Amino acid sequence: MKKILLTGAFVLSSLMSLTAVAAAAPTPEEEALANITRRQAVFKLLSFANGPLGAMARTAPYDAAAAKTAVERVAMLASMIPEVTAADTSGPASAGIKTRASNTIWTSKADFDKLAADLGAGAAAALEILNTKGEAGVKDAVAAIGPKCGACHDRFRMD
Ligand code: HEC
Repeated sequence: MKKILLTGAFVLSSLMSLTAVAAAAPTPEEEALANITRRQAVFKLLSFANGPLGAMARTAPYDAAAAKTAVERVAMLASMIPEVTAADTSGPASAGIKTRASNTIWTSKADFDKLAADLGAGAAAALEILNTKGEAGVKDAVAAIGPKCGACHDRFRMD
């Protein structure tokens, strides 16, 4: 009886690993969806990370730790942009997937990656500003980051 149970368990686990192998080969459409969803997640998080600093520049009370965390997160996420946009999703496999990414990203990838690096540099500059000026530097810190988002959107994000 024990043997039968063990054999059954073995067969079941073999079947399960076969299923895992089958699931590991996505279709081009699934791959495109995964790539587009991943990069959009990074941009959503960029907005989430940057939010508290923007709020402090308007009406929210200054919080030194939260301000620094914001720019450190922006820098970290900016460093991921070249990788999460490495896959060219301008082909037919992406038809029907909602994206605002311009196809020109993949004909000008070096320019695009440079704009991502500019955002990283802007976040580093913002951190320096916060470290030296504190609350008095919040608006300058925002100004070191925000235009870098816009520069890339103007060229590579569609309306
Ligand atoms: C190097 C280029 C680049 C930089 C820098 C950049 N973005 Fe974007 N962003 C894009 C592209 C391209 C898309 C469209 C992605 C898509 O739809 O597949 C996008 C989309 C977005 C979206 C919509 C995400 C969604 O699908 O819901 C938000 C929000 C966003 N960006 C915020 C920001 C913020 C905030 C910054 C700066 C802190 C920033 N981005 C910097 C290129 C950039």
